[in-house]
Amino acid sequence: MEQVRRWDYEGIGIDEETAGRAPWALARTWVDDAAQAARDGRIHEPSALAVATVDADGMPDVRVVLMRFFDPTGPGFVSSLHSAKAAQIERTGTIAAALTWTPLYRAVRFRGRAQVIDAETADAYWRTRPWGSRISARASRQSHPVPGRAELEAAYAAEATRWPDTGSPDDVPAPEDWVAYRIACESVEFWSGRPDRLHDRLRFTRVGEGGLDAPEAWRSERLQP
Ligand SMILES: Cc1cc2nc3c(=O)[nH]c(=O)nc-3n(C[C@H](O)[C@H](O)[C@H](O)COP(=O)(O)O)c2cc1C
Repeated sequence: MEQVRRWDYEGIGIDEETAGRAPWALARTWVDDAAQAARDGRIHEPSALAVATVDADGMPDVRVVLMRFFDPTGPGFVSSLHSAKAAQIERTGTIAAALTWTPLYRAVRFRGRAQVIDAETADAYWRTRPWGSRISARASRQSHPVPGRAELEAAYAAEATRWPDTGSPDDVPAPEDWVAYRIACESVEFWSGRPDRLHDRLRFTRVGEGGLDAPEAWRSERLQP
């Protein structure tokens, strides 16, 4: 590698008192801070969520999606049942994910089980997507090979002809493979980069039933950096 540039991390850190007894309040605050930082032009795509799954051979896989749902039941995203991730989730049920905002010296990690979110919620989100995005989702068999860009564009053109843009959220129906997943968390870890690499880490581990906002469902511990 080229000579590396070293950045010192000047995060404001995490203290157990402020974090509270369940991960929701801190997670919500950090997600909101990231959204504000994006509005201020300090970061891009604050919702970019790295999602890891494991294939049938135990081989890990990771890709970025956009976090489209976030409430005390867990973070969620949309994808396709045709995708590699969907096959991996179907097989193992397990999932891990990370939101990373390097300019804010912050990251959050989630580990747990993937759950399919109800079709009504997935459909409600579908209707908010721009027409072209809905057409692309219909035209693509996600994660499957295609001979070339031309075939992809032909598939797009065919869907666009079939479902013209009328300006209505109902002009393009969701394809059968449209799916939304939530991560039902078993652990949530917060990382805040601090000077001299003496970072703060706080991990919440599930000890009972309840949402991310239920104090009785979690215990927390500080981890060494
Ligand atoms: C910034 C960014 C946002 C993305 N958002 C999504 C998304 O919300 N859903 C999705 O299925 N793929 C999304 N993708 C594409 C995925 O990274 C990936 O290529 C795709 O989901 C297929 O992954 P798989 O073959 O592992 O299932 C996004 C990629 C990037 C870089």
